[in-house]
Amino acid sequence: MKNEEMIRRISELKKEKNAVVLAHNYARAEVQDIADLVGDSFALSRAAVDLDADMIVFAGVHFMAESAYILSPQKTILLPDADAGCPMADMVTADALREAKKQHPNAAVVCYVNSSAAVKAESDVCCTSANAKEVAAAIKEDEILFVPDKNLGHYISTLTEKKVHLWNGFCPIHQQITEFDVLTAKSMHPNAVFLAHPECRAEVLKHADGIFSTAGIIKYAAASDEKEFIIGTEQEMMHKLRQDSPEKSFYPVSKYAYCANMKMATLPSILNALETETTKITVPEKVRINAKKALDRMLDAVP
Ligand code: 13P
Ligand code: SF4
Repeated sequence: MKNEEMIRRISELKKEKNAVVLAHNYARAEVQDIADLVGDSFALSRAAVDLDADMIVFAGVHFMAESAYILSPQKTILLPDADAGCPMADMVTADALREAKKQHPNAAVVCYVNSSAAVKAESDVCCTSANAKEVAAAIKEDEILFVPDKNLGHYISTLTEKKVHLWNGFCPIHQQITEFDVLTAKSMHPNAVFLAHPECRAEVLKHADGIFSTAGIIKYAAASDEKEFIIGTEQEMMHKLRQDSPEKSFYPVSKYAYCANMKMATLPSILNALETETTKITVPEKVRINAKKALDRMLDAVP
């Protein structure tokens, strides 16, 4: 089937089933183009609650679809490819977190949304890269146990007086971006502003002119008077950046920053998801209720 035919069928099925397609900023360009909303993890979580739809097809990874279900269980949540996971989310388990809580009984557990429902259920509050600072500030405890991203956790520790205990998790895509990559890109583009995602290592972030979530990077670049930008995150971000500001130049800091899991949602897999209503993502009710408390606390802390 040609792309135009698939896009036409997807559009028909969306109307027929009152479905929407939500795409993360790292989704394939052609998938972003057919999505009803493209955004960062925070915007997509909000949309899962706010959108008046019976069905959500999530062009992202498993934890995002799970969060949508946790917040809106009355909707049918579909992940086009059930294997689209997040290696960082797999770096913490509920059992391991329960053990760590015993080591830090006075710490509030802040859990990055890149985590399983079971881990969220063991946590006090969730955060995304867009609101981590505000969530940390809203916590009354003086200590935070932050899971699973050690890089985002370390970045937060530089923004708060609170003691932050780090977990040894990381995003393999951002972790492989090195200081050498940044210095090389800066020497090739000396006038460019360097914008980085907080999942990058501290050695990379120390060179950044701005540290934002994916949506924050897009917003900053569109509003800026600067003309050249080095982008320190996954490379599909170039699509929206160039779409919004065709007159500006965007350079990926590393050509290896590519998340294969985020590319598993394709036009054929989205069409198949809508046709067959697979793969449905659900969470056991007991886990869902506790995980929802952590997500709701985040949404309350950052309205
Ligand atoms: P944000 O879109 O929330 O910045 O997250 C990036 C990411 O890596 C999601 O997996
Ligand atoms: Fe997970 Fe990193 Fe891919 Fe985001 S970019 S989904 S954190 S592996």
